Amino acid sequence: MTIAAADFAKRLDQTAEDTERLLAELLSDTLLPDEIARPKRLMDAMRYSSLGGGKRLRPFLVSESAAVFGVPREAALLAGAALECIHCYSLIHDDLPAMDNSDLRRGRPTLHKKTDDATAILAGDGLLTLAFDIISRDEIHPDPKVRLLLTRALARASGLGGMVGGQILDLAGEGRFGDREPVDVARLQQMKTGALLRYGCIAGAILGQGSPKEYQALDDYGRALGEAFQIADDLLDVEGDAAALGKPAGADAALGKTTFVTQLGIDGAKQRVRNLLARGDAALSIFGAKGDVLRATSRFVAERKN
Ligand code: IPE
Ligand code: IPE
Ligand code: MG
Ligand code: MG
Ligand code: MG
Repeated sequence: MTIAAADFAKRLDQTAEDTERLLAELLSDTLLPDEIARPKRLMDAMRYSSLGGGKRLRPFLVSESAAVFGVPREAALLAGAALECIHCYSLIHDDLPAMDNSDLRRGRPTLHKKTDDATAILAGDGLLTLAFDIISRDEIHPDPKVRLLLTRALARASGLGGMVGGQILDLAGEGRFGDREPVDVARLQQMKTGALLRYGCIAGAILGQGSPKEYQALDDYGRALGEAFQIADDLLDVEGDAAALGKPAGADAALGKTTFVTQLGIDGAKQRVRNLLARGDAALSIFGAKGDVLRATSRFVAERKN
């Protein structure tokens, strides 16, 4: 079974819309208990980088992996919003002059260009910490054990053994810290990008209290999807253009990044994506037709133009 392209697009749009609404609420001026003030400059910066853009693929993965288990949609959306906060923070910091030094993100000036480096650093910090406020909220799940598992998994996906660790490997691979170190691209990508995407998939199994086998299936799918996603990003950096991407093209080569495209060539990288999609499909087979949307998500990730 497959899902029609129009139905898939509708579902993705719906989650993007729901996530936008939720993030706007979470980033409103209303103070939470124990908060002293929400400074305007910081709020404006956090809103600038998290509202009005992005595919919202990570919240979509949470919603769709949770839907496999019949988890209430509002809870999944909230967990997805937490993950999106981490993602938006990672983009703000990724674009800073000290990292990829990029001027364009989601078709608009990057936050540090729009404001200044200090505001961008602090807006990133604000989104990172807000994510953990959100993921630990009572509305996520009635059982505190489930909330704890979700929270810990988010920390591990985001932190030194996940996205943050991957970002330093990425910069080391450029030769930023002295000698160019040999790069294990698979590991680098698994950490810098794969870990957050995988989290989007296992979050559904944690929220839905799936069996160990079901958890493993989403874990395997999430790993394959995460790697395919970053290879597609690296291919777009070579083959895409800034107008469609909403971010600069050719940036990786300019910075001397090591990617699967530099290691395998364009055809080799595309073949690797196809193999990864097959691996993702195989992992989802235990869900039968309930895995259709996630299967279609792999295709979307591989064929996307931005
Ligand atoms: C871009 O992620 C950064 C990478 C991890 C490669 P996305 O392509 O998901 O960016 P948005 O959220 O849609 O802008
Ligand atoms: C970014 O990878 C990964 C994270 C933000 C963690 P890239 O540096 O390739 O992402 P883009 O191409 O700037 O979106
Ligand atoms: Mg980068
Ligand atoms: Mg970058
Ligand atoms: Mg890139």
